[in-house]
Amino acid sequence: MWRLFFLLWFAGVFVGCDHPVVSFAPNEVFSLTLAKSRSVVTDAAKADAAAVTEELFGTPDVPRVPPSAAAVISLDRLVRAAGPVSSEKDGTHLGLYREHCVTCHGVSGGGAGPASLYQKPHPRNFRHGVFKWKSTERSAKPTRDDLRSIVQHGAPGSAMPSFAAVEPDDIDALVDYVMYLSLRGEFERRSMAAAIDDLGYGESENGEEEQVAADLRLAASGETDGAEVVAEVLDRVVGDWIAAPEQVVAVTDPDSLGGESLAESIARGNEIFHGKIANCVGCHGPGGNGEAVLVDFDDWGKEYSTRLGLTPSDRDDMRPFRKAGALPPRPAEPRNLTQGVYRGGGDGATLYRRIREGIAGTPMPGIELVAEEDGRGLTSDQVWDLVRYLQSLDPDGPST
Ligand code: HEC
Ligand code: HEC
Repeated sequence: MWRLFFLLWFAGVFVGCDHPVVSFAPNEVFSLTLAKSRSVVTDAAKADAAAVTEELFGTPDVPRVPPSAAAVISLDRLVRAAGPVSSEKDGTHLGLYREHCVTCHGVSGGGAGPASLYQKPHPRNFRHGVFKWKSTERSAKPTRDDLRSIVQHGAPGSAMPSFAAVEPDDIDALVDYVMYLSLRGEFERRSMAAAIDDLGYGESENGEEEQVAADLRLAASGETDGAEVVAEVLDRVVGDWIAAPEQVVAVTDPDSLGGESLAESIARGNEIFHGKIANCVGCHGPGGNGEAVLVDFDDWGKEYSTRLGLTPSDRDDMRPFRKAGALPPRPAEPRNLTQGVYRGGGDGATLYRRIREGIAGTPMPGIELVAEEDGRGLTSDQVWDLVRYLQSLDPDGPST
């Protein structure tokens, strides 16, 4: 534990509170991942994607919001969360992200801040645009409310602290900043991939990168093919964030149960938990005790290990990625469900959505929702049986 405190202190001194940060570092880890997966040279794609990203999104001290992204991010709030830590005469706080979040999530939101190394799981890498604790469909972005909630309450059982003491306006500004880092980070990744896959960057003979024709170079504006690809990537990423509020998973009302019938519902939930269709037991162990052995990793770490045919625990395999700034991949451990500790919330509606959609970025699958029992999916009543079973495992009783 002292190690964590020391790291936090160290990070506070050096990442610092009042240093200007001139630019976001290019995404070296993804560049290396692309180089390995496509067997190409990615230097030009990395440099051009970083340049276009900076043109559209600005820098850590002077952020910009591309016009289409103004539908989801407010520049006013963004500016308050960005830059070095300071206060205005009227008491407004500036530099909120560097004050509260950067030691863990890092300047660019890559999740590899100075205090991140020993954390399990690692701080979220916002650049993938994948979030775990949300009310929306598995592949959808979170809503503003989802992000506000995780920042306010933290993710109990992980290093993500609660910022309940931070003023609501400041939390709102931080939410914009998380969306900003995620949007710009995902835009950069997708542009880099599009440069290789669609624009012919990185085609090499004798390991040397060829010059890309002017018309095909990534560009933030203009009429070229490169500019068109950039505009498409931006539309796609912004569009996903705009769509999120429409993708909130509907929760059917549970039957109101009391006494005997609650016990019956819990008993049915127990059976479903241990049964073939949901097979929660396969990962969470009998009675949810967390003792089933599943050695798998989360998607953030898999991208530069198992998906490239590399072994996450092999130091030699991981060395180039570690040098590029990647954290060692983390196993995604199924939770012990008997302690009543939920990172994403333990109220009925939240657990219902968790079971329905699974957990994005992790091996936990969703279930198929069916109108009638058919041997493949679960009905919404059965999902409620499971929710009640989970809540019955909580030593403190269900949270509301
Ligand atoms: C001490 C380290 C630490 C600090 C400080 C920290 N976080 Fe986190 N954060 C984490 C960890 C670890 C996770 C991953 C939790 C998980 O995977 O369950 C996380 C996850 C998140 C998530 C992702 C939730 C999801 O649905 O996937 C968001 C959003 C987030 N943090 C925002 C913030 C913001 C904003 C701040 C500053 C106000 C902040 N964090 C400060 C460690 C930290
Ligand atoms: C393939 C393995 C797998 C299966 C099957 C599975 N889970 Fe999970 N589950 C996980 C993993 C891994 C986590 C931890 C994810 C994390 O926090 O990163 C998890 C976490 C959870 C959590 C904690 C959520 C939180 O907010 O902290 C709940 C609740 C849960 N699972 C319930 C279930 C139920 C109910 C089922 C059956 C319908 C189920 N799981 C099936 C792997 C699985």
